[in-house]
Amino acid sequence: MTAIAALAGLGTALPSRRVTNEELSRTLDTDDQWIRSRTGIAQRFWSAGVATSDLAVEAGRNALRSAGSDAVDMVIVATTTPDHACPATAPDVASRLGLGTVPAFDVAAVCSGFVYGLACAAAHIAADLAARVLVIGAETYSTILDPGDRSTSVIFGDGAGAAVLRAAGPGAPGGFLGFDLGSDGSLKDLIIIPDGGSRQRTSKGDPAGSYFTMQGKPVFRHAVDRMTESAEALLEKAGWTAGTVDWFVGHQANARILRAVADGLGVKSDRVIIDMDRVGNTSAASIPLALARAVTDGNLVPGDRVLLSAFGGGVTWGSSALVWPDVPAL
Ligand code: COA
Repeated sequence: MTAIAALAGLGTALPSRRVTNEELSRTLDTDDQWIRSRTGIAQRFWSAGVATSDLAVEAGRNALRSAGSDAVDMVIVATTTPDHACPATAPDVASRLGLGTVPAFDVAAVCSGFVYGLACAAAHIAADLAARVLVIGAETYSTILDPGDRSTSVIFGDGAGAAVLRAAGPGAPGGFLGFDLGSDGSLKDLIIIPDGGSRQRTSKGDPAGSYFTMQGKPVFRHAVDRMTESAEALLEKAGWTAGTVDWFVGHQANARILRAVADGLGVKSDRVIIDMDRVGNTSAASIPLALARAVTDGNLVPGDRVLLSAFGGGVTWGSSALVWPDVPAL
């Protein structure tokens, strides 16, 4: 019998420095009212002197504790902000968590990274290549934002969220009920750091090319379309209707995007988990951070039907679904 992957633990980490809209409006031509009304974001956390792996280790440790586990067979870190271009961040995280010499690798799918990471973990479990996998979404976007660009600086935050997945039989609580993943590389320029890769290694004297750039309007449109289509495909796979979804936990890019996707799906707006007000857009960390918030707030309880959907640079997208198990968010 093919094993499925089930959620067994959930952990998070946030840097200590809280950055309010008010603080940003002191150096950028923006204001709290614009940021809140256009994005739903009220604050975010930015790390000072903390690397992505530091947040990943903390979230990973918490997820292992939540799962009551001190060993896994594999570590996957989803990130757009690795500690180094080379090597990957995951082996360092695995080593610092005392997980021995397990396979460890990074997933680069920008804001869809956590869902891609979950799918990789589930595939390894289904292929009997692993029985327990730690999947971490961790980001320090504060290190790649152009401090003078009001269209990106107000949106992104740092943080990490992690999940332990275990092999289980069909129907187990927390079992992932399938995945829908996709990409469209013809839209790669919508979200891009132009320099620093093999295409353009150095910035030729203009530092602008080394920063994260985003074309907000088209990204907004594609995010709504792709997340809606992908979540619909997942509902069909899971055999659920939109009306039976207890919580829609989408990538926390913009509250208006999430409301539009929920509308398109037919999920009621009070079933949408909103977390970007607290942490901004934390890219690959956003879905596990939002899940943990929903558990901590007492909204998400065992037995609830949860629909996940993300969209990110690449462009990439992905969705999954599960019935919430009895796991603490630490
Ligand atoms: N404060 C004040 N004004 C701002 C601003 C800010 N922080 N950022 C942009 N503006 C201005 C623009 O300059 C523009 O002014 P203009 O009309 O004089 O030219 C105006 O606000 C509208 O800009 P626009 O970019 O059209 O705003 P928008 O309503 O599309 O909102 C985003 C911008 C970025 C919030 C929105 O496009 C968005 O959320 N996109 C998707 C982002 C996303 O999902 N990213 C992650 C995907 S993984």
